[in-house]
Parts: sequence; C-alpha cells; structure tokens
Amino acid sequence: MNFKNRSFLKLLDYTPEEIVALIDLAADLKAKKKAGIPHRLCEGKSIALVFEKNSTRTRCAFEVASADLGMHPVFLDPSASQMGKKESIADTARVLGRMFDAIEYRGFEQTIVETLAHYAGVPVYNGLTNEFHPTQILADFLTIREHCGSLKGKKLVYMGDARYNMGNSLMVGCAKLGMHFVACAPAKYFPTPELVAECEAVAKETGAVLEFIEEPAKAVVGADVIYTDVWVSMGEPEAVWKERIDDLLPYQVNSALMTVAGPQCHFMHCLPAFHDLETVTGKKIYDAFGLEAMEVTNDVFESEQSIVFDEAENRMHTIKAVIAATLSDILN
Ligand code: CP
Ligand code: NVA
Repeated sequence: MNFKNRSFLKLLDYTPEEIVALIDLAADLKAKKKAGIPHRLCEGKSIALVFEKNSTRTRCAFEVASADLGMHPVFLDPSASQMGKKESIADTARVLGRMFDAIEYRGFEQTIVETLAHYAGVPVYNGLTNEFHPTQILADFLTIREHCGSLKGKKLVYMGDARYNMGNSLMVGCAKLGMHFVACAPAKYFPTPELVAECEAVAKETGAVLEFIEEPAKAVVGADVIYTDVWVSMGEPEAVWKERIDDLLPYQVNSALMTVAGPQCHFMHCLPAFHDLETVTGKKIYDAFGLEAMEVTNDVFESEQSIVFDEAENRMHTIKAVIAATLSDILN
C-alpha cells in the first residue's frame, strides 16, 4: 500500500484494503489522542482549507486534526478570496500548491475538486462535493465498527435522497467493504444507473449486496444501521422544499420505523439534522408546512439507538488519518 502524496477525492479511487487501513489508523490515532500521547506526524507542514459551502464538523475536524499533527491550517473563504471570480480553479490550485503541503476543498461539482487535484501538485482532500462526501464515510464506518464490532455483511439502510453526496458515498463505501446497502426512497431518488453499475462491479469482488427498495417497512427489517440526511442539500434552491417534503415524508425516520427495524438497529446521520424547531430553517418549514421534524423525529435522534455524536467525533480522527497517511510515512 502506498498513500504518500495521494489525493483523497472519492472512495472509488481506493481499494478495500486501503480503506480499512485508513480506518485502522484513525482508531489508533483516536486511542493516542485519548491517552494524551502526542502524534505530531506532520510537524511544520501547512494545509489550506477552502470552503465554498458552510461547515461545522468538517472545518473543525480539519483544523483540530492538522494542529494535532503539528501542522498549520489556513482557512480560505472563497467569498473573500479571488478563487473562481478573478482566478480559475487551475490557477488557484497552482498557487496554493506552491505554498501549502495539502489542500482541502468543499464546494459544488466533483469536477472542481478533481481539477484542483490535477493542477495542485500536492494532495487534495474532498471535504464534500455535490456528488461525494468521502471523509464522512470513513467516520461513519469507524463508528459502525465501534458499535457493531465489524463491517462486512452489516446492513445499512439509507432513507431519503439517495442520489446526492451521502447516498452515493455510502453506496460506494458499502460496496467496497462487502456490506449490505439498501437505498430506500421513491425511485427518482435512487443513485444514477452509471454509479450503481460501477458499485455492482465492486460488489461482485467484495461480496457486497446492493438493493433499491421503495417501501420503508420492507427495506429496514433486520438493519444494523438506518442512516438519513437532510432532504434539501446545501446549494439547492429553497423552491424544492415542497416537492421534497411531499416525496420524502413517508421516508422519515421515526420510532415506528425503528421498531420495524428491530432493537439491534442504530440510527446515524452525517449532521446537521432537522429533528426539532431549534433552527431557523426548522422554524421556517414548520410555519410553511406544519412539520415539527423532517428527516428524523426528535425521539429517534435523542434515543439510545442514536450514535450521531460518536459519528461526529470520528470525523476528526478519520480526517487526521487521511492527512497523516498521505503526508507522513506512517502507512508507507
Ligand atoms: N457532516 C458534515 O459534513 O458536517 P458539516 O457540514 O458541519 O461539515
Ligand atoms: N447532503 C448534505 C450533507 C451535509 C453534510 C449537503 O450536501 O448539504
């Protein structure tokens, strides 16, 4: 295995063994952090954090992880930089590549992060695009392993808009690691046939099972994890809310659905989540549509079965593993 100087743009670029090695390294770095053992594996290096969309977890994970590794992170808000407005992505990549040892990018099309990686000359990490959110999956899988003991054969049911970054990336991740992935949504929210075909080819090698089911009660039986995400993602127009609510309300994760799944089932969500009326958007949706929660009800979110904050913490440990693997010799 060779991770040195590689970008981390999507899980399709990594073998199952490499993905497991990253999760193992994250678990090791997590144990070191808890034990107070220093792990400044990238002393003196620097990383640019470019965010074209908002973030709490991903930005903080990159900042804390890089500081723990002895690095200097610099946050770039494109609304206050030249990127995209006066300077192309290719030119920005070449400038940042001369000053930084690595670049994180969160934004819109996957082609942007691929272009950055093509021109930068240093590793580029995908901190979320419309199509993929690969660092999230590493955290999710570390969390599942901690709670379920293993990954192979585990059944993960994704409820909701399965054709966007989270549904796509979870399907790829499950295919790579030989898991049982179920997308549960109206058919128009299933991932594209092209991505499904690519994942089916991977699944043939790993023993993974991929299913696409429209009836929630049929999809979730025996699930180890029910996973959901917001119905309208960052960058999408407000006008789609009504259609999404009409289409996806039957796919809300509520206590009736968790009961059908069974007591072994964990609830996961990449966060942020609309589970109560404590957010500006949550209140707006309540005023317009009378919904107190959207993709997950508050009782499920706050239940014993919910492992969403373990999952959020693991963003930091897994992002640290990606940086350390690609910039230091720890896995090479
Ligand atoms: N899950 C996730 O990526 O969260 P942020 O948008 O807060 O980074
Ligand atoms: N699908 C969500 C994920 C947020 C982490 C979005 O893109 O907004």
